[in-house]
Amino acid sequence: MTERKKKPEDLRSHRWYGVKDLRSFGHRSRTAQMGFSRADYLGKPVIAILNTWSDMNSCHTHFKQRVEEVKRGVWQAGGFPVEIPAMSLGEAFQKPTTMLYRNLLAMEAEELIRSYPADGVVLMGGCDKTTPGLVMGALAMNLPTIFVPAGPMLRGDYRGQVLGSGSDSWKYWAELRAGNISEGDWQEVEDGIARSAGTCMTMGTASTMTSAAEVLGLTLPGASSIPAVDSRHAMMATHTGRRIVDMVWEDLKPLDFLTASSFDNAVTAVLGLGGSTNAIVHLIAMARRAGVPLDLARFDELARGTPVIANLRPGGKYLMEDFYYAGGLRAFLKEMGPLIDGSQRTCNGQTLGRNIEDAQTFNADVIRPRSEALLEGGGLAVLRGNLAPAGAVIKPAAMEPHLRRHTGPALVFSNYDDLAARIDAPDLPVTKDSVIVLQSAGPQGAPGMPEWGQLPIPQKLLKQGVRDMVRISDARMSGTSYGACVLHVTPESHVGGPLALVRDGDLVTLDVDARRIDMAVSDEELERRRAEWRKPIPKFSRGYGVMFLKHVQQADTGCDFDFLAPDYAGEEIGSGKGEPEIH
Ligand code: FES
Repeated sequence: MTERKKKPEDLRSHRWYGVKDLRSFGHRSRTAQMGFSRADYLGKPVIAILNTWSDMNSCHTHFKQRVEEVKRGVWQAGGFPVEIPAMSLGEAFQKPTTMLYRNLLAMEAEELIRSYPADGVVLMGGCDKTTPGLVMGALAMNLPTIFVPAGPMLRGDYRGQVLGSGSDSWKYWAELRAGNISEGDWQEVEDGIARSAGTCMTMGTASTMTSAAEVLGLTLPGASSIPAVDSRHAMMATHTGRRIVDMVWEDLKPLDFLTASSFDNAVTAVLGLGGSTNAIVHLIAMARRAGVPLDLARFDELARGTPVIANLRPGGKYLMEDFYYAGGLRAFLKEMGPLIDGSQRTCNGQTLGRNIEDAQTFNADVIRPRSEALLEGGGLAVLRGNLAPAGAVIKPAAMEPHLRRHTGPALVFSNYDDLAARIDAPDLPVTKDSVIVLQSAGPQGAPGMPEWGQLPIPQKLLKQGVRDMVRISDARMSGTSYGACVLHVTPESHVGGPLALVRDGDLVTLDVDARRIDMAVSDEELERRRAEWRKPIPKFSRGYGVMFLKHVQQADTGCDFDFLAPDYAGEEIGSGKGEPEIH
């Protein structure tokens, strides 16, 4: 039985529906216009369901149905569900990158929750940036909140062979270009690689972030691993609808249970899953919204002692459907043992430890015991040096070991167009020892910090059999990519970071074990180059893009907008806390 800490007149929605004035009459008459009588909503928690469904988000097609299941649960528990569409961020379609719009979704989510009569919130997302975007916005409002992860799609299929999102597209594309498969075969791959609703089914950014949300306690236990089209996913949605109503009466809010230790748990889980480097940017942004300090150094510290035990692509063998059948995230967390702090509370009112205490692993090759980890530690490394004074990241597990310590001459591309135009030129002055550098690919430079970080190997080297080389940029990298790619270089080149000052032929040294990335250029010479450097012309002259360029922060602090930080103290600050008067 839920312990009620609130009376109906304490509900936030009471200000819309319960008071006796003309405004309240307006709200009730317009609710009647939608066919609801007072008995449907008066004195009940209003649950805002922020749904990121759209025809441009192939991963969320089932949300049209799932939202009905969430509503069913809300009705069952005595709440009043209202569905509110939120920006969809369809990773597969949106250009130049959904990362340009993550903060816009976060703003939209925050303002929708703020401006409508919400007592509790259900967030429906999953496709890459929708998870951090929705969570960042909801944390800023801090009403009782549960996240419904979209769930991964089923395994891909091509003539009985399993296909995985991302990696198999590249594999079969190469086969087509090599003439080993026909256009007809290629179309069969196209039709079978994404054959159900749901997010990419490798441990890419989507599954990394929904798993992190679960570890933070923002989903019901086990929710993030359930395949999108499994009937148990529908049950989870209904259960979420029931639970959020209780959370409103209990007044259980995310900031009541999100702590530094819960974020450590999320980072540790991402590392143990072999998750996407994108999680670094998103988790830092989410933690800052929760008022929890989390920085790059903490990722490096935790990475050194965290084994990778989930045998999932792109680093491993299996897909998310296999992970679910093997026991899912609950079993994985149990296998992580003392590396996870089980005392942290979660949205179901229990501790994380309690939520996983009866979890079992049903396939020990998919979810390995720690004694048979795929990697003992160091799944991620944070680098610093005169090329990246505020940090850069690399995934050592995904690179050829001989490149862990490497020195080579820089070959610099000033932006993506320059890279595309020259990278395959037969006379490109490049050898396998060169270090490829891409500038203007960061948060402001690209803009939006797209997933360009897996820079292509020049064709002339591919023909010589070269498959990996050191590559450096201020971009991000897809969760399904690999290679000796130094990413998230901060400060980015567009704002005059040292990456902007590298020139062809400069000797660059990567030393993963020493956590260093440096160029052999003297401070005096760098100062001289800095004096000559001119900031590139911004790529937007109006609209949202101008706001983005003016306010987006660097990768090491999560690329959030400065004015969305809880402690923002900008020049035009007012007297309120963002909550408008409600009349
Ligand atoms: Fe939606 Fe990959 S495209 S999760």
